[in-house]
Amino acid sequence: MKKVTVRVPATTANLGPGFDAFGCALSLYTDVTFEETEAGLEITGCDEAFTGPDNLAYTSYCAVLASLSEEVRGVKIHIDAQIPIGRGLGSSAALLVAGAIGANVLRGNKLSTQGLLNITNAMEGHPDNLAPAFFGGLTASMVDNGLPVTVNFPLHPDWCILALIPDYEISTNYARSVLPTQLPRADAVYNISHGAMVLKALEMGDEKLLRHAMQDRLHQPYRKGLIGDFEAIESLVRTTGAAFCVSGAGPTLLCFTLDETLEEKLAKKLPAITKAQWEILPLHVEFEGAKVLYQE
Ligand code: HSE
Repeated sequence: MKKVTVRVPATTANLGPGFDAFGCALSLYTDVTFEETEAGLEITGCDEAFTGPDNLAYTSYCAVLASLSEEVRGVKIHIDAQIPIGRGLGSSAALLVAGAIGANVLRGNKLSTQGLLNITNAMEGHPDNLAPAFFGGLTASMVDNGLPVTVNFPLHPDWCILALIPDYEISTNYARSVLPTQLPRADAVYNISHGAMVLKALEMGDEKLLRHAMQDRLHQPYRKGLIGDFEAIESLVRTTGAAFCVSGAGPTLLCFTLDETLEEKLAKKLPAITKAQWEILPLHVEFEGAKVLYQE
């Protein structure tokens, strides 16, 4: 029976104003192994609650087989996840991407990466985490005529990224439910203009420009109330000069800086100003997208 292990990077979506469009792959990984069997489904390595047929790695595995008009036989899936669940670091996208690549590899690599992105985007509803998970690096995506179109953007090599990860989850569905369905035109203009500046600031390594550009009026103002320590942490980070945004739907907060000592500075001050426990995780951009680690 055939077996494949797929490694998928964590991703941060939005990067401030690029709601549902911008994303970046990060140096934290989920590895998923798929082994074809005669019949049945066995999922290990995760909480019992995720071992049923609604597991995202399995649903995308089945979606790819369906698009190939191939029969779903039995499969054993083992998940080895560094990416924390429900923290805004792309854990769901990582499972969808792993399942899509796993099925494609096991059945002869008939679909392109774009084809796999199309299938998984139809499942997730927005490509901002999926695109960097597949392609790596910094991406901007649009959905045109129902299909995702993605481009990679250059990034300055000196960025230090700190993920501030609290000890609680927020579901993406809930974090989307608090957003307004319509925006004033001035807010739309604010986000379009700030979004363009985010991409340029990330390319140039311009921390001051990024600090201003990462502000948005589409989701962060509505979501910050879900993250109890948001304002205290934002004020602290602003005193350091670093750029700051909510990672995806939250609750993780991300700092972008050129200051290699920021981790040490935040570690000294964060516990005194926060109610939750916050882990400070230094990360870097992962320029390689999802890949096959092992195949037999
Ligand atoms: N763009 C998405 C959001 C990312 O902010 O809701 C989370 O899936």
